[in-house]
Amino acid sequence: MSTQLFTNAHIATGMPHSTAATTAVPQDILVEDGRFAEIGPDLPARLEAQGRDMSSAPVTDLGGRLVCPPFCDTHLHLDYAYTARKPGATNSSGTLFEGIQRWSETKSDLSIEDVKSRARTAIRHELLHGVQFIRSHADVTDPNLTSLRALLELREELKDVVTIQIVSFPQEGMYSYAGPHGEAGADLVEEGLRMGADCVGGIPHFEQCRELGERSMHTVVKLATRYGRLIDVHCDETDDPNSRYVELLSSLAYRAGIGVRTTASHTCSLGSADNAYFFHLTELLQAAHVNFACAPTENLYLQGRQDTFPKRRGITRVKELTEAGINVSLGQDSMQDPWYPLGNGNMMIILDYVLHLAQMMSFEEIDDALKFLTVDGATTMNLGDSYGLEPGRPADFLVLDASSVFDAVYERCAVLRSVREGRTLFTRRETIDSAFDDLIPEA
Ligand code: FE2
Repeated sequence: MSTQLFTNAHIATGMPHSTAATTAVPQDILVEDGRFAEIGPDLPARLEAQGRDMSSAPVTDLGGRLVCPPFCDTHLHLDYAYTARKPGATNSSGTLFEGIQRWSETKSDLSIEDVKSRARTAIRHELLHGVQFIRSHADVTDPNLTSLRALLELREELKDVVTIQIVSFPQEGMYSYAGPHGEAGADLVEEGLRMGADCVGGIPHFEQCRELGERSMHTVVKLATRYGRLIDVHCDETDDPNSRYVELLSSLAYRAGIGVRTTASHTCSLGSADNAYFFHLTELLQAAHVNFACAPTENLYLQGRQDTFPKRRGITRVKELTEAGINVSLGQDSMQDPWYPLGNGNMMIILDYVLHLAQMMSFEEIDDALKFLTVDGATTMNLGDSYGLEPGRPADFLVLDASSVFDAVYERCAVLRSVREGRTLFTRRETIDSAFDDLIPEA
């Protein structure tokens, strides 16, 4: 049996799946055969008292730093990464719809190797920022399904270092898209599921008219039920308060009994809808237990483009959904693509933005904030017992350069170590040279 000990860690509080309720007392982590065996204080002494011979087990002193589960990026487009500088890809209006147009005009030369190469670079960035679980959309409005084929290969090739869920996503619409030989977006989505995509995607607010948007939501739920897959829909990514597909999606998923397997991404329109409507909708969302994925940086940049002033923020109601007990997770969404140029895979930046934009800065909210990147992301991705700091689960965790959740958020801290099934993926040295202490000694 392979055994190792990680000692002297503070475990992030506010984690429903953590075994420690407080960071006040340093904890030790026993890992056996890649799984958590035990988490608690004074483990070496307790194991010795039990007669366990730990003399040959490697011991890593974590120096009192914060340990939390790995980050989940629950909304990303790996196939689009690093295409912003392609000739013809410049999005001069900065709108969502021009981004879709530019991508459509420049995607014909994709190759599997090209997509995989760019996606690998994006995944490297995400990993170095502590992400081990990614839900990526793959554009299937392409008769060759090049993005999907590439990401399916990567999902398998990289499974030891990162878990990738793939959404069969009709970027140009289920019913508004027609391929060069008349291929319908909906048929290509279904073909993506046959090929092994994990989730059914949709984009109802982009369909040509309301009826087609509604029809696409019926198709999404039907396909998810038929193929036993998860759902993740780009839903109401617009400032139009009358874009209300999240309501239809939630109702259909609720009736099909698959609300917990359903995610509504973006839902920017909820930031524009009035309170009376949201009050009514909340009851449905609570009953259906659907998940929300918010991409704060991208939608802050893309939305409000038809406004002068006041100018809307473009993000969904993260605070209100959270307070209503509805699961919200976060996503980077774009990494240098025609929609947003500055995504770098650092989920601490994404968290920083959402806390500001959603006005979630009570000390209680900050102390609980890492849940958005960890357990709430795992809930969106339906990771179940394969995620979390619990005995018996895979020993996946991060060591952050902080000793409390507040300090981690306050410092927008770096990830010092990422561990997956007991194997250290990387370590990072602390960034401040001790010589600095000579310049301004602490009082
Ligand atoms: Fe997206």
